Amino acid sequence: MMSLICLKEITKVYGKNNNEVRALNGVTLHIESGEMTAIIGPSGSGKTTLLNIIGCVDQATTGEYWLNNVYVPDCGQKEKAKLRNERFGFIVQDFALVERYSVIKNVLLPLTYSSKKIPKSRAAELLDMLGLSDKHKTLASDLSGGQRQRVAIARALINDPDIILADEPTGALDVKTGNEVMEIFEQLNREGKTIIMITHNYEIANRCKRTIMIEDGRTEEKKSTKIACGVFRL
Ligand SMILES: Nc1ncnc2c1ncn2[C@@H]1O[C@H](COP(=O)(O)OP(=O)(O)OP(=O)(O)O)[C@@H](O)[C@H]1O
Ligand SMILES: [Mg+2]
Repeated sequence: MMSLICLKEITKVYGKNNNEVRALNGVTLHIESGEMTAIIGPSGSGKTTLLNIIGCVDQATTGEYWLNNVYVPDCGQKEKAKLRNERFGFIVQDFALVERYSVIKNVLLPLTYSSKKIPKSRAAELLDMLGLSDKHKTLASDLSGGQRQRVAIARALINDPDIILADEPTGALDVKTGNEVMEIFEQLNREGKTIIMITHNYEIANRCKRTIMIEDGRTEEKKSTKIACGVFRL
């Protein structure tokens, strides 16, 4: 049987001629359903590019990608949008909350684009689960960093996706809040969600069952279970 996510020799080149940037340089990767995987690597190594390709936000320049046996490069824009909205929950690098919207309105936003039948009451349930029961009506602009991160997680979960893609979900948080966020991811993973998480932090990576290192657009599986602690920043 094929893995949930199968990437073969993926490349991504931005720009043209003299301005070419080879962000991914032949990435082959298989991710199984239910895995919790960390992607770790220096700034500019291609982590976000890889996550965007996996999440059907961006497309590879060359290479093959199967998502749950669907050959993604052959999908049209509409099909890709449907995959993106229904299969994935995204937590982007800067959270991307709408500042002038309330917390609950931010969480409900993805439902505008979804054909899934999700009751609006799910937003309140998620916020309660994430410890934000008293913040439903607060404007996003009035939240702390940790609260913003949790709203971004609630928004990523509203569509009940089976794959969660998180770009540095603990990057802007203090250690305690970062731990709380990791506990939420670990719980979601126990419930069966597949999680792919970018981090610069080895301690965070060590909490994932699998770690993939990326450097200069190439990936390498980290075989040992534990890697030296510290923060990977260039
Ligand atoms: N839209 C774009 N146009 C041109 N170049 C881009 C674009 N997006 C990314 N790049 C380049 O591709 C390379 C990989 O970028 P990417 O954002 O994937 O890195 P990253 O590993 O996520 O870095 P960081 O840890 O800083 O977020 C970088 O050299 C970057 O400058
Ligand atoms: Mg990035």
